[in-house]
Parts: sequence; C-alpha cells; structure tokens
Amino acid sequence: MCGIVGYTGDKNCIPILMNGLTSLAYRGYDSAGVAVWEGSDLTLRKAKGKIENLKNLLETSPISGLSGIGHTRWATHGEPSDVNAHPHTDSHKTLAIVHNGIIENYLHIKSMLVKNGCVFVSETDTEVVAQLLGYYYDGDPLETLKKTVPMLEGSFALAILFADEPETIYCTCKDSPMVVGHGKNESIIASDIPAILEYTRDVYFVQDRQIAVLKKNGLAFYDEFGATIEKPVTHIDWDVEAAKKGNYEHFMMKEICEEPDAFRKTFDQYVNKDFTLKSERFPWDKARAKSLKRLTIVSCGTAFHAGMLGKKFIEHMAKLRVDVDIASEYRYGDTLIENGEAFMVISQSGETADTIAALRRAKELGCDTMAVCNVTGSTISREAGHVLYTYAGPEIAVAATKSYLTQIILLYLCALDLAQKRGEMSQVQITDRLKEMSKVPAAMQKVLDNKEQIQYFASRSFAVKHVFFIGRGLDYALAMEAALKLKEISYIHSEAYAAGELKHGTIALIEEGSLVVALATQPDLQAKVASNMEEVRVRGAHVLAVTNGPWDGAAGHSHEQWQIDQMDATLAPLCAIVPMQLLAYYLAVQKGCTVDQPRNLAKSVTVE
Ligand code: AGP
Repeated sequence: MCGIVGYTGDKNCIPILMNGLTSLAYRGYDSAGVAVWEGSDLTLRKAKGKIENLKNLLETSPISGLSGIGHTRWATHGEPSDVNAHPHTDSHKTLAIVHNGIIENYLHIKSMLVKNGCVFVSETDTEVVAQLLGYYYDGDPLETLKKTVPMLEGSFALAILFADEPETIYCTCKDSPMVVGHGKNESIIASDIPAILEYTRDVYFVQDRQIAVLKKNGLAFYDEFGATIEKPVTHIDWDVEAAKKGNYEHFMMKEICEEPDAFRKTFDQYVNKDFTLKSERFPWDKARAKSLKRLTIVSCGTAFHAGMLGKKFIEHMAKLRVDVDIASEYRYGDTLIENGEAFMVISQSGETADTIAALRRAKELGCDTMAVCNVTGSTISREAGHVLYTYAGPEIAVAATKSYLTQIILLYLCALDLAQKRGEMSQVQITDRLKEMSKVPAAMQKVLDNKEQIQYFASRSFAVKHVFFIGRGLDYALAMEAALKLKEISYIHSEAYAAGELKHGTIALIEEGSLVVALATQPDLQAKVASNMEEVRVRGAHVLAVTNGPWDGAAGHSHEQWQIDQMDATLAPLCAIVPMQLLAYYLAVQKGCTVDQPRNLAKSVTVE
C-alpha cells in the first residue's frame, strides 16, 4: 500500500529513486512524486497517474541532488491528483515527507494546526504530519520526531528530508514496513525489499516507533525516546534477478512459470532426501500435536483461500478440527479461543494490517501462534511464535500466484506432519505421499508447456460476463482462489460455489453463455459434480471441466475438458491451480487489462 524510497549518498538520487519506485509500483500506482535537496532548496516533482507520468515530468523539468525521497501512492485520503501526491511539505518548506498508511487522528491534529495559522493545500492526512513536524520543528530533527511521533495514531511509515540537514534522511514507522540498508558511500530506505536489493542484501527492519537516521557514511537507530539502539541485520538471499521481469511481458506470467521451481524449493526445505519430513521444522512435538483440540487459521484474500484448503488437508489427514476466518472479521469478532490454543496466520507479505492485528489479539489471549510467511524479517515473521517460511522468492505482480502455491504446499506438509505426530498416518504412508508429491512439479510443467490451449480458450471466451467456478471438497476451496484471481485481474464477474449448493439459489444466475468451470479432480465426488455440471449445461452454460487424469464421465456434461496428470486426489489442487491462474491471466490480457497492477488494488494491504 504505497511505496516509499529514499537515498542519500554520492550519486545523483533521481535515477535511484525512480528505479526504486518502479520496482515498488505494485504497492500503489495512482500518482508518484520525488523531493530532492538541490543545493539550496527542497525541490518537488509530482504527477498523477502511473510512474511513467512522473518520468516524463522529470524529463521536461529535470532535477538532481545527492539525497531525496520518493513515493508511489495508493490513495486513501484525497483523490489521486498532482496536489495530493506525495511528497508533502510544511508551509515553510523546512521539510519534505512521504508517508504510507493512515493517520487516524489527522482531523484532530489538523484543526489544532489550522487554529494556529497553518494553511493546507492538499486533502491528505500526510500533509497534516508535514505541517505538524514543521510546527514543532526547533532546529533538531530527532527532537522534533520524539515530540511529534507519539501524537500520531494509526499506521505510518514516514521518510523525511529536513532542509537544515539535507544529506540525512529520517524515518520512522508504526504498523507499516520500512527497510533500511547501507552500501558503499550510500544509504537507502524502502517500504519493501525489492527496491533495496540492488544496493545491499543486508537490511534492517525498522520496528514500531523506532527512528532510523540515514547518512552517506552509515546508519543510526533510536528508540522512541531517542536512546541509541543496536539492530540485528537480516540477510536477504533473494536473487536480484528474481525481482525483475526478464523477457516476460508481465510479472504475473513470470511468477506462474516459476511455480514448479518454487514448489521444489519449498518442498526441499521441509522434506529430507529419503522422503521423510524434517519434523523439527514444524511447530509441535508428538505430545503437543496429540493434545491439540483445534487449530484456528486467520488470513486475508488469497491467503484466506489457502487457509480454506489447509483446513481440508489438516482435517482429512490429521483429523484435527480447523476453524478458518478472515482477519478483518476475526479481529473485531467474539474471539472464542482459549489460552494455549493453536493459532496460525498466513501472509505472503507478512505486513497485512488485519492479519497482524489478528495475530496480536491471539497473542494477547495466550495462544500458541505460528505464521506461514514469505518474507524474512517482516512484522508477522518477527511476531509469530513460530514461522514456517514459504520459498516463493519475491512476488511482484499484485495477484498472488506462486505465493499461494507455496502456502498450500506448506499447509499440505503441515497436515502430513500433524497426521504423523498424531498417529493418523504411518511413516510408510507419509513417505509414499511425499514421493508422489515430489512428482507434482513435473505435472505443473506439463500444464505450462501446453498453456497455448488455455490461451486459445481465453481468446474465444474473453467477452464472457459471468464465470462460476464450482467444485466439491478440496475443489471448492480451490474454486474460491480461481474466482478471486479472475475477478481481480480481468474484472470479469466471477464467483466460487460449492457445486451442490448452486441449486439453493445461485443457479438462478445461470443463463445462456455463462461460463461454468467445474473443478472435478476428486474421483470420489466426480459423479456428484457431473450432476451439477448437467444442471448448468441444460440451462445454457458453457461448461469447462478440469479433471484429475482422464474422466470419461465429463464428456456428456461439459463442452471442454482440461486434464492434469493423474495423481492422488489430495494432491490435485497443488497442480490444478496452475490452469486456473493461466486462465485468469489470458482472459485479462485478452481484455487489455493492466495485469500486474489491477485497478484499485495494491500488493500489500497495510491499512484496515
Ligand atoms: C491476492 O491476489 C491478493 N492480492 C490479496 O488477496 C492478498 O492475498 C491479500 O491481501 C493478503 O496478502 P498477504 O498474503 O500479503 O497477507
């Protein structure tokens, strides 16, 4: 949600800021801006729209300097416009500021400042922070921050350039990520790791209300009271190239194509060469696993859908009850959970505000917490009692693909581990399942090698207005993710429905030309799904069946069939997600959508 980058060093900061903003564009893309110290003044350039517009502005109206801050915005307060774009300054231009998050008490602070003569030019909560800092500024940036930051309520990551100390960048945050790194004669700050990777792999995560001070020659960190603190360094082993688009037209396609590799990487981290589980990497020992009565999983969006599939894996294999909830609901609901209960959050970014809040609530209640997370050093990975890392590498496209895959892989492995520890599956059964699981990447690769079939289907279907994904059991959980993927990037109305539930109402929406994708990978349930396919086919729907190996029964009830390699039914979703992601991708491309940066969305949702 909004991207921040800041640089101070011995190079012109503009290309560095623009490079950083480009790599952070997935965080927000309705306007962008930069502020630099040009030697005598803080100079700003801001433009509504994509970063391209800011680039054009900088070409017609160039600026340069050795230190500066930049921002790409996802509007919360005030419409996307040049004037609401960041950076913002106070009236006297003593400082320039960029901000991620929401200042919840901004109206209260604003009215105090207006009473004291401040004149505001934008509608943003960010300008309120700029004016507040300017109002209290006494020539000492650190003292000013100590005084003002405690007045701010809500979530924020702030990077500030003071005109009196133009070669220093100050930053602080609360419930919004901020990463700092130091290279040779340069320091850099960003709201996400990809923007920093080219300069250093050793980074520091600024934590709530801490203050980071960046100078060309080094970094200093302070707590909220201004006392110096030492911070642990985190080494990021992501490949710099992994965060680049390479020869692909879109990050999303690149990331789908990386899935077999992400599968192997995640699998190898948790499974020994002899196909036994590295059980010490999973949270509970045998006695604890046996004593568990329930696991609660909380997450958002795609990660919530991963949780839904995880529930089915764990209940089926480990016979442990699993409750799954959406984090924004859970955090304000009646939390009927007891001290010591098992609680899991799932988050690619590790920075989703609602998920963090749910995790904190569970911790307050004394739960035994763990997280499935893709980003080392992120807030969730720092705060959860135990972390199961996914090894998807950086995911840039807003639509989650490989991160979802690695989440469901990990949930599958968790289910096996719990099944073994709880005595529900023998070592031989586990090993057989893991051997079969290791073949899934090859099956995924086959889908990828034949993706033209899906592209061709999309070229015939992109005018479709409504798509219904139906399935039973594991397929229903998978359908939820397939429907989300399609709607978020192609803007085609899509819904996921439990196939047997259609007839209780939703079937009323089926009309001539509706597309129904029937996920039918579970042999035990195929006959039932066949009836549901027939119900929609006779009402005019075009039916596409996705099957686990050949299924003759599909023929009479569908117009088209896509097969994945035949595999154990429990493993099928791990492969069947690939054609669903490709379908969403190709339909979006056919419709001319901005696949990597869909409208109104941002990659990491750090506000409520
Ligand atoms: C997925 O395509 C979405 N962009 C979104 O639903 C996402 O999964 C959700 O915001 C959760 O993000 P997280 O995994 O980083 O917590």
